[in-house]
Amino acid sequence: MKYYESHEDCYKKVKKSKTSSWDEFQKKADRFENFCMKEFLVTALDTILPKSKARVLDIGCGTGPAACFLAQRGYDVYGIDVSRTAVEIARTNAMNRGLIINFSVDDICHTTETGSDIYDIISDTHCMHCITHDADRKAALSSIFRLLKKGGHFIMETMSIEDTSRWSHDGGMRMDEQGILWNEVEEDYPYDKVFFEDKFWMCTRRVLSPSALQKELEQTGFQIEYIGTTQDIDIEYMADFQAICSK
Ligand SMILES: C[S@@+](CC[C@H](N)C(=O)[O-])C[C@H]1O[C@@H](n2cnc3c(N)ncnc32)[C@H](O)[C@@H]1O
Repeated sequence: MKYYESHEDCYKKVKKSKTSSWDEFQKKADRFENFCMKEFLVTALDTILPKSKARVLDIGCGTGPAACFLAQRGYDVYGIDVSRTAVEIARTNAMNRGLIINFSVDDICHTTETGSDIYDIISDTHCMHCITHDADRKAALSSIFRLLKKGGHFIMETMSIEDTSRWSHDGGMRMDEQGILWNEVEEDYPYDKVFFEDKFWMCTRRVLSPSALQKELEQTGFQIEYIGTTQDIDIEYMADFQAICSK
């Protein structure tokens, strides 16, 4: 199974804990409504000023905090996630709020949606940093570009690091020079893993520099309208890269 499909195991824990979202489970948010990317999403929407019934796709929607927020603003919202359990919880979260959102289980690297020019906005609410390998990232970004309408916008917030050597290699986690974060796993862990230094490891995050992220977006064909970074609250050498791009 692909490394990023391991999120399913995380959402089984979210479900068991009866928390409503990834951020709440990780104690990064006190409640569903206060998801981490909300502030930048509001800024981006205030910049883009989408039409009232804009069609929006949230990739890696998880349990749907951003999708619900977007639907509450009146947009026609779709959410996809590789995790079946996340999508199940997302549907419940939307239903409990009286919102109609089209959630489905799908992989943005190999999406089942073959059409093009479908969405006015696509949001990456912390999904792209879960896609570690260059080929997978290229496939995901190409799909996002294809699915966006001409003149549509891609809003992205993703983990970023300027200097990978500053990562402290503690606690069964290490970062390589390419910004791939590896977690030590058991030999029988059912997702893609590699063996080095006498241990099994699975890649979990891709943390690129702001300039590498900008280059990736430009190479996909996006026009950059805004890029910026915000300092990570816990780790001083980490940041969130934020971008608003158009097709
Ligand atoms: C850090 S979580 C963020 C979830 C959600 N956006 C939120 O703000 O709560 C990243 C999400 O991306 C999803 N994901 C990872 N790889 C994916 C892929 N290839 N296609 C679709 N979703 C993916 C994971 O299952 C997970 O729900």
